[in-house]
Amino acid sequence: MQDGGTARDQNGQPAGSGYDQVDATVFRDTLARVPTPVTVVTSHIDRKPHGTTVSAFSSLSLEPPMILVSLDQNSDLLKVIQESGHFGVNVLAAGQQGLATQFARKGADKFAGVAWYMDHGAPRLAGKGQWLVCRTDQLVTAGDHVIIIGLVVHADTHSFEPLLYRQRAFGTVTHLRG
Ligand SMILES: Cc1cc2nc3c(=O)[nH]c(=O)nc-3n(C[C@H](O)[C@H](O)[C@H](O)COP(=O)(O)O)c2cc1C
Repeated sequence: MQDGGTARDQNGQPAGSGYDQVDATVFRDTLARVPTPVTVVTSHIDRKPHGTTVSAFSSLSLEPPMILVSLDQNSDLLKVIQESGHFGVNVLAAGQQGLATQFARKGADKFAGVAWYMDHGAPRLAGKGQWLVCRTDQLVTAGDHVIIIGLVVHADTHSFEPLLYRQRAFGTVTHLRG
């Protein structure tokens, strides 16, 4: 017993919370079966662009308009966003998995051969993807990742078929139109 009588398990969590019970492979495989959007999150310093493939992207708040993305603490893009204070989210369309693969690499040259342009202060990839521009509102460290909460200052939408990621493979949905 610690903390005035609260029983704790070996990880210091409240006893019975299940914290120490999930198997790492089961956890990964469970999440792998959940389809996710595929985005390339971008930012820049002195107009030198950096971008990273990110599936951990979600809407967060309507008033004010907010979204979140989550980046590994070792992400080079995280350092760029910490310095620049803003970022763009390219939500990829079906057929853009080549970009998803290219921006899932490490390195400073990920934009080589990629068609892009600055749009409302962030690097935007050419093509059919959706587009959001955010000012960084909060950075929240959670485990080995950092949640970046962005205040959306610009968005551009149109009908498109989204690129999805599931079971470590790319696909799309054809029966959900719009
Ligand atoms: C489909 C897909 C989704 C990914 N989602 C994320 C994510 O949500 N967060 C993250 O930190 N890395 C994610 N990654 C891995 C990064 O893209 C990869 O580690 C990249 O090399 C990091 O680059 P950076 O260090 O330049 O930021 C994903 C990779 C793929 C292929």
